[in-house]
Amino acid sequence: MNYYYITGTSRGIGKAIAEKLLQDDTNIVIGISRSSSISHKNYTHIHLDLSDLEKAKALQFEKHNQAKRLCLINNSGAIGAIQTLGTIDNADLINTLNINLLAPSILMNNFMKAYYLQQAEKIIVNVSSGAGKNPVDGWSIYCASKAGLDMVSRVADAEAKVKSKHNFKILSIAPGVVDTQMQTEIRNADSNYFSRKEEFIQYKNTGILADANAVADKYIKIINSADKINEVVISVKDY
Ligand SMILES: NC(=O)c1ccc[n+]([C@@H]2O[C@H](COP(=O)([O-])OP(=O)(O)OC[C@H]3O[C@@H](n4cnc5c(N)ncnc54)[C@H](OP(=O)(O)O)[C@@H]3O)[C@@H](O)[C@H]2O)c1
Repeated sequence: MNYYYITGTSRGIGKAIAEKLLQDDTNIVIGISRSSSISHKNYTHIHLDLSDLEKAKALQFEKHNQAKRLCLINNSGAIGAIQTLGTIDNADLINTLNINLLAPSILMNNFMKAYYLQQAEKIIVNVSSGAGKNPVDGWSIYCASKAGLDMVSRVADAEAKVKSKHNFKILSIAPGVVDTQMQTEIRNADSNYFSRKEEFIQYKNTGILADANAVADKYIKIINSADKINEVVISVKDY
C-alpha cells in the first residue's frame, strides 16, 4: 500500500489531490487540517490547527511496515493578513509563518525521523509558490514563508544526497494560480495594501486561474515520476 499524509485536505488543491489518490484502492490518505470534507474507506482525518506548533510537533507518523510508498504533502497554506509591513498585527504575522513554514518544517523533520531507516519509496512534497521567488506587496510573510519552504527543501535534498541511505526524495512544487478560496481572499484584499488587486481580479474574470483538479493531476504525475526529476524547486507548469 501507499500512504499519503496530506495537510489541507478540506478544500482546494489538497482536497483535489486526496480525492484523486483515493480513486486507487492501493492508496491510503491521512488528511490533516482544522476541518474535514472527505468521506472514504481509505481516508482518515486528523483535526489539527497547524498554527499551533505544539500540536504539529505531537502529530504521529504511524509505522507502516509494509508500505511501498510513504509520502508527505505539506499543502496547507494561508495568505495571512494582506497588509504592508508596519501595519500587520504581529499575531497574524506569527500565525502565517507557523502555518506556511514552521509547521511544514516540523512535519518534514518528524516524517524523516519516523521513516529514516524504512525500506520504501519516501517522498516529501512541499506546496510552494511563485511568491517565494518574487516579492509581492502586501504578502511579506507569505512570500518569506514560501521562500523558506523552497530552501528547507533544497537543504533536505542536499542532505539526502550526502547521506544517501536515507533515500528521501524532496520536491518543492509551485502550483501556479489556482481557483481556490485563497484566490478569493486575495481578490477581497484592501487595495491600499495590495497594488496588484485588480490584476488578480482579472485572472479570475479572464479564466487564467487553473482548476484545482487539473493541478492535482499534475502533482500526482510529478509524484509518480519523482525519481526521474533532478531539480528540487519546480513548478507544475513545467510538467
Ligand atoms: N491558489 C493559488 O493560486 C495558489 C498559488 C500558489 C500556491 N498556493 C498554495 O497551495 C496550497 C493550497 O492552497 P489552496 O489554494 O488550495 O487554498 P485553500 O483553498 O484556501 O485551502 C487551504 C487549505 O489549507 C488548510 N489550512 C489553512 N490554515 C490551516 C491551519 N491553521 N491548520 C491546518 N490547515 C490549514 C485549509 O484547511 P482548514 O481551513 O480546514 O484548516 C485548507 O484545506 C497553499 O500552500 C498555498 O499557499 C496556492
